[in-house]
Amino acid sequence: MRKNIVAGNWKMNKTLEEGIALAKEINELLKGAELKCDVVIGTPFIHLASVAGVVDAKKIGISAQNCADKESGAYTGEVSAAMVKSTGASYVILGHSERRAYYGETAEILKTKVELALKNELRPIFCIGEVLEERENNIFFEVVKSQIVESLFGLSADDFSKIVLAYEPVWAIGTGKTATPAQAQEMHAFIRKTIAEKYGNEIADNTTILYGGSANPGNAKELFSNPDVDGGLIGGASLKAADFKAIIDSF
Ligand code: PGA
Repeated sequence: MRKNIVAGNWKMNKTLEEGIALAKEINELLKGAELKCDVVIGTPFIHLASVAGVVDAKKIGISAQNCADKESGAYTGEVSAAMVKSTGASYVILGHSERRAYYGETAEILKTKVELALKNELRPIFCIGEVLEERENNIFFEVVKSQIVESLFGLSADDFSKIVLAYEPVWAIGTGKTATPAQAQEMHAFIRKTIAEKYGNEIADNTTILYGGSANPGNAKELFSNPDVDGGLIGGASLKAADFKAIIDSF
């Protein structure tokens, strides 16, 4: 059966020193705790190796927030999937709406990034989600479906089964405006049906689908209680160890 996951997305926050301190604090809070979900922290590149060195790898997985769409070579400033993997990270967040909107990441670029991540044994946490206008115009199902089809449906069934999806309605990210549990469930069920149509029920049932967008200790329990919501991708609330722990405890 699929895994529940709570993943933190630190975005561009925390100096190295602050990031190590936060990771240690989270690690401390999870010591001895009976976890009902997997826990992942998604840090900036520069934190990865240090954070991997201070957390219990049996309890906390490490994720990058991006990787290059090239294998290696003369691409100044880029970080490859192989480099991410070599830090001890096991996940990479790809297709976040901030990367799509501010850094021009297209479905085609993301397809390549997903392939390189998988080739380097990183599990992509692949983000999808509509902007407000698309929700208001009632085209959110089509938008999300095409994001999945264009970047992921070229994968073999075996490769697809390594993907974690994160439904993040863009209008809910960092806005304090969370999708209602019913809106989240409706979309997650649609996503699972879309996967089933392509890869069959077994793979669809085994795919972890996270919700992201202003999830916090106050709304996580209700969101996670939906049958197709398998955890969360947490931005702002993952920067405070106690809040992140409270979200983990919502399972
Ligand atoms: P938020 O961010 O929890 O701060 O809304 C979620 C995300 O962008 O992954």
